[in-house]
Order: sequence, then structure tokens, then C-alpha cells
Amino acid sequence: MSDKPLSGIKIIDFTHVQAGPACTQMLAWFGADVIKVERPGAGDVTRSQLRDIPDVDALYFTMLNSNKRGLSLDTKKPEGKAVLEKLIKESDVLVENFGPGALDRMGFSWERIQELNPKLILASVKGFSDGHHYEDLKVYENVAQCAGGAASTTGWWKGEHSEPTISAAALGDSNTGMHLAIGILTAYIGRQKTGKGQKVAVAMQDAVLNLCRVKMRDQLRLDKLGYLEEYPQYPHEKFGDVVPRGGNAGGGGQPGWILKCKGWETDPNAYIYFTVQGHAWGPICDALGKPEWKTDPAYTTPKARQPHIMDIFGTIEDWLKDKTKYEAVDILRKFDIPCAPVLSMKELLNDESLRKSGSIVEVPHKVRGSYFTVGSPIKFSDLKPEITASPLLGEHTDEVLAELGYSQDQIKALHEAKAV
Ligand code: COA
Repeated sequence: MSDKPLSGIKIIDFTHVQAGPACTQMLAWFGADVIKVERPGAGDVTRSQLRDIPDVDALYFTMLNSNKRGLSLDTKKPEGKAVLEKLIKESDVLVENFGPGALDRMGFSWERIQELNPKLILASVKGFSDGHHYEDLKVYENVAQCAGGAASTTGWWKGEHSEPTISAAALGDSNTGMHLAIGILTAYIGRQKTGKGQKVAVAMQDAVLNLCRVKMRDQLRLDKLGYLEEYPQYPHEKFGDVVPRGGNAGGGGQPGWILKCKGWETDPNAYIYFTVQGHAWGPICDALGKPEWKTDPAYTTPKARQPHIMDIFGTIEDWLKDKTKYEAVDILRKFDIPCAPVLSMKELLNDESLRKSGSIVEVPHKVRGSYFTVGSPIKFSDLKPEITASPLLGEHTDEVLAELGYSQDQIKALHEAKAV
């Protein structure tokens, strides 16, 4: 057994697509023994979705299932069910993100799981919480972004594309998985005190909403005041009774915007995000070569600046015209101005610092050769998560069955019955 913090924790990974796999992958990085259970022959649908190489596990799968072992098992067959029962008896956690009721229909209700192993932690992702009026709905990423408040508050409030907008970040999927990981570890620590497992559930709607709490804050402020002073609509446009979409405005007390840099006409990412931090106003004026703004009453306070904040951003864009996004940030960083270049996926993949820190890693894979993936975003002083390849479908079936006490003959019989 390795000495990683989560080593010794055995997890049945009955997850698919993204939300569940993202959770269990992270626990595997930190040392848990994560056994990915998949239907024989087919496996997780992401193995074959959006393939870049014919007949090879798609990146969609490899990037969400590293460090796991693969067990193929048909849990609808009696022989397969018996294997799952044995596994439940010997594991600490079962994680699943099937559609509502699927686990019950398979014969593994919470009551049954408790009979089999009262110490087991059952962790589930669903679209909506138990008892919610939409609890029966199947849910994917964008559905969750709409149900959790992200879509209504993202995007533009006027112009041709002013409809609710989806974020590219997986707020519904991976984010829910991260919440679930916290829930699992909490239940695990709880079990050390009580000796009992418990059911942990995260609804994608709730996980999205949890990230949108500042928008809920804004709704409560809007209800009270009728306006939101940091939104681009203020003070020239009318507010309705719901939080409007704010384009690229800063979400907190610091106005900010995405500004064009040299080359924006041809490069879709030649931009920086610029933040006008209140106490950094002096340095901003120095950086832009506008010392007169430091004493001009139309500029000295955030309140005075807000009515013409877009003109201020226009002036900054003028200053940026002859600077690339990298040159601009190199100047602005000297003045302590919170800013960053808008980075493309290509730039991130090739970013030296991310490679060095292990945030982007190259992983050898038996069939595809090697693949790049996103490594652990959590850094520890005493643990450097080593990212290993995702398993092939059923790669560790015989190994896991043998560990469960099945003889070679019994394993052969399970193969013959097509239960594994
Ligand atoms: N052996 C036998 N059957 C298996 C199996 C196995 N190893 N693994 C899964 N199955 C069966 C299940 O028992 C279920 O069968 P049933 O519907 O006949 O009871 C079926 O496969 C899986 O159903 P479901 O999870 O509903 O799959 P789907 O492809 O129709 O829906 C989702 C996919 C993601 C929409 C749905 O799983 C869902 O809403 N999940 C919860 C929310 C979520 O996590 N969404 C985000 C995904 S990134």
C-alpha cells in the first residue's frame, strides 16, 4: 500500500460522463483505490464520444479517469450483482451519478446498501436534490447551468446575442464532482467518529448556485435598492427586477473589463482583463501616463469614475493599441494592477509554468501513446500527485475479482456468463 493520504480507502466508482468521474479521479490522485465499474462491451459513454483516434479511448474519457482501475461488470445479471455485493461489503465508498432511480432499479437502494455494509458511504450526483419538484429529471452540464442561475447572469444584456449564456467552465459537471469529493471526505472523517457510513448527495443545481452566490447577493441588493452600482447598466440604463447579465464586468467591488490589445483584429484572444482596484488608482494613472487623473475630481473616487467607466476603459484600450497582451501585463504588473492576458487552450497547454507545477501533465497510455491532461490543481507540501493513465475497459477485472476471493475457475465462469 502506498503512503499517499487516501491510500487504504477503497472506492467503487460507478460513475460516468463527467460529474462523477471528476470527483473519483481527484480522490484517486490522492491515493484512494478507485475501481471504475462499467458495463462490459460498452463502458462509460465517453470512451467513444468525440474520438480523435479511431477505436482508442477518447480524450473525454482519459482526461477524467486517470489513476483508476477498470472493472467491467454487468450489474443487471445475477452473477454481476453478486460481485457488486461482495465489492460493497469490502469498500468504503460507492460513488454514482446515474439518472434518478437507476441504482434502486438495479437493486441497490440505500437500505440494501446499509444491510450489506453499514460503514459504506454512498455518494451521489443528481441534477436536482431529493424531493425537488424536478427530482425526476436527467441533467447534463448546460441544463444545470440554466437551473442553477449561471445562465441567466452570464452574457450580454443587449445587442444581437443577449440571450442567457452558458459558460465553457464545467460549473454543472466537474464543479459538482468537486463538491461531492468534499462531501465524501467529510463523511469519511465522520465515520471515524461514529463507525457508520452515510448517504452524501450533491445536486448539480445546488453546486452551480453555490458558485453563483454573488449573483444571489446582487438580487437581494437589487430588491432593496433598485440598482446595482457596479454593473455596466449603471447609471445610464434602467434596471428591471432581476439581476441583469453584466457582460465582462467585475463581479465584486472592483470595476473591470476585457480590453483589446495589439493584434485583436486577427487573434481572437489578444485581450487582457483589467481591474480598476480602488486603492490602485494612483498607480493606474502612472502606468497609463495620465497623472492629471490623480487629482481631477471626475476621476478620484470610484463613485466619480463609475458614470464614465467605459470611457476610462476606452482610454486604456488606446494605451494598449501598440502592446501585445503579454507586454501590457508585463508593464501593469510593475504597478501592482490586478490583470492577466486572456489565454487560449493552446497557450495553456504549452505554458511552461503549468507544466512545471504539474497543472498540465503528459501521461503515457498503453494504446494512444501518451496524452496531455490537466493535473491536480491542489498542491501539497508532502504529496506530489502522480497522474497515471486511465484504465482500458475491464483492464483490471481479473485482478479485482481475485482480490475479492474469486478463484480462477469462478472468474472464467463469470466471463463465460458475460457478467464481466
Ligand atoms: N451494468 C448494467 N447496467 C448498467 C451498468 C452496468 N455496469 N451501468 C449502468 N447501467 C444501467 C443503469 O442501471 C441504468 O439502467 P435503467 O435506466 O434501465 O435503470 C442505465 O444503465 C443508466 O442510466 P442513466 O444513468 O439514466 O443513463 P443515461 O445515459 O440515460 O443518462 C445522464 C445520462 C448523465 C443524463 C444521467 O445519468 C443523469 O441524469 N445523471 C445524474 C446527473 C449527472 O450526473 N449528470 C451529469 C453527467 S456529466
